Amino acid sequence: MTAKILILPGDGIGPEIIAEAAKVLECLRQEHGLDVTLDYGLLGGGAVDALGEPYPDQTRRQAHEADAILLGAVGGPKWEALDRPLRAEHGLLLIRADLGVFANLRPAILYPQLTAASTLKPEVVAGLDILIVRELTGDIYFGQPRGIRTLDSGEREGFNTMIYRESEIKRIARVGFEAARKRQRKLCSVDKANALEVSELWRDVVTRVAKDYPDVALSHLYVDNAAMQLVRAPKQFDVIVTGSLFGDILSDCAAMLTGSIGMLPSASLDANGKGLYEPIHGSAPDIAGKGMANPLATILSAAMLLRYSLKAPEQAERIERAVGRVLDQGLRTLDIMANGMTPVGTQAMGDAVVAAL
Ligand code: IPM
Ligand code: MG
Repeated sequence: MTAKILILPGDGIGPEIIAEAAKVLECLRQEHGLDVTLDYGLLGGGAVDALGEPYPDQTRRQAHEADAILLGAVGGPKWEALDRPLRAEHGLLLIRADLGVFANLRPAILYPQLTAASTLKPEVVAGLDILIVRELTGDIYFGQPRGIRTLDSGEREGFNTMIYRESEIKRIARVGFEAARKRQRKLCSVDKANALEVSELWRDVVTRVAKDYPDVALSHLYVDNAAMQLVRAPKQFDVIVTGSLFGDILSDCAAMLTGSIGMLPSASLDANGKGLYEPIHGSAPDIAGKGMANPLATILSAAMLLRYSLKAPEQAERIERAVGRVLDQGLRTLDIMANGMTPVGTQAMGDAVVAAL
């Protein structure tokens, strides 16, 4: 059956990088037998401008009908001052919650060709291959109560609630253990159990789930130590499982180990493998429209989409091999460029990947 892919270009560099990923999918469709249709929709600031909300009903319907969704990036200065429900990023949080994509997989892989692009010493990062499993639909991002209130004294107070249910911890822990099983069988759970009750429960539940996975070595780290270990000796990690807030921070940190956040894809999956796929970087308004952005994270997100939601691993590998080949050829966008190289633009990079397919 023909699989339906919904494409949400979003804001900033979103449309530019998505155009390159769409070219790649289109090439697989026309020349390599990939059976898909590509449909387009609005999310984020563009959706606010056109329809008055960041996750409009129309997009919601399209998202529920699709087999998988590929997203560029959302947000920009134009929408930052609006009320929270009208902000571009709010659309992203809404679509994740609405689709129940609780398992966010963020691989941080260092391509051997890019070792010099990392700010860390080559011996510290060479061969790096980490998977961060970030819980995506709970935690302090969604916890109630939340708000900004004015106290009797007239002073304002902002508050959010960090909260996790046992069932939420259990299901993300299982994703972490299952992923570790397919890799080096090492899972590190990250929390702040020395200061937070929610983390105390997190650690207890993860430890219980571990009984079903005796073949996986489980360790625990406090998030502050985990941040330090990630830059001190990142290769000690295989799979990291953590809550949404800690995972947000640690995944940006892990991204930099690989030289550029412009290289890293992500998958956000529901309980049935339906997913939302996006580069982990943002909409980069400062370079939007300049044709400078690195489209590889989005192209690699399309590969993850083919692997996880469309169960087409051979097509995913075709994309990943093509990306390896363009890096071998020495093609670099500005963000991954080493001294003495001439950067290529967004389109040239996309064209090179298509040629290498
Ligand atoms: C990410 C982003 C989002 C998040 C923001 C834009 C809400 O930082 O996907 O990492 O924190 O989830
Ligand atoms: Mg983030």
